[in-house]
Amino acid sequence: MNSSASPAVTDRLDVSKLPGHVAIIMDGNGRWAEKRLMNRIKGHQAGAEAVRSIVRTCREIGIPVLTLYAFSTENWQRPEIEVATLMSLLKKFLDSERNEMIENNIRLNAIGQIEKLPEDVRVALQRTIDVTGKNKGMLLNLALSYGGRAEIVDMVKSIAGKAIDGKMEPYSITPEIVADHLYTRGMPDPDLLIRTSGEMRISNFLLWQIAYAEIFITDTLWPDFGKEEFIKILIDFQNRERRFGNVR
Ligand code: FPP
Repeated sequence: MNSSASPAVTDRLDVSKLPGHVAIIMDGNGRWAEKRLMNRIKGHQAGAEAVRSIVRTCREIGIPVLTLYAFSTENWQRPEIEVATLMSLLKKFLDSERNEMIENNIRLNAIGQIEKLPEDVRVALQRTIDVTGKNKGMLLNLALSYGGRAEIVDMVKSIAGKAIDGKMEPYSITPEIVADHLYTRGMPDPDLLIRTSGEMRISNFLLWQIAYAEIFITDTLWPDFGKEEFIKILIDFQNRERRFGNVR
């Protein structure tokens, strides 16, 4: 499933030019299972293994922030059994990786409508967030019950509330103030957005934050996404010219 990277590839990576924030739309678990005549649930289980491997890889390489789109606001519409499986995989991941996150100096954070998650998942999530709270090696940001539009609506409500209370002057609102009222407040915007399984869509992910992200779409299905391909994408990123709307 997930291979380790060959030295020939790793050697081409310039560790002084890594993206500060990588965001990933993990897609293709269902297709991975269907291709093998398996139940979709097996695809999500294999997907959870790929999550473990990519978190480890990011920590090893030295990526400061990794955001994974683990469950969208739209995913609640999936069959009950699939939602329950995803929730149980999430809880399992939080329980089984908690110690590894502590040992590897990884801080966990979650973005999204966390209050909508089942209680056992919320408890496991909060425990992991609490015990990793002081870690500085890497930030692992899980997007859970996350939707970019819902995030923007929440930001507008929060800013409008402050304006009504006289705590904010509407005409002095800046992009920085907006960013400060998003779930990602305090984090750098993603430099690199990866989507697996070939769809050319953003799917309501980090709509504000990806304004200048470099986008990389791979046909690989998420459970097959491993270290070697990730490093090749990072090398591709390092060779792109980022102009942020400016001229050369
Ligand atoms: C898309 O596959 C993937 C998801 C719905 C969410 C990602 C979930 C995991 C990787 C597993 C658990 C996560 C963690 C953090 C342990 P899909 O079902 O949409 O695939 P398809 O488009 O091929 O049907």
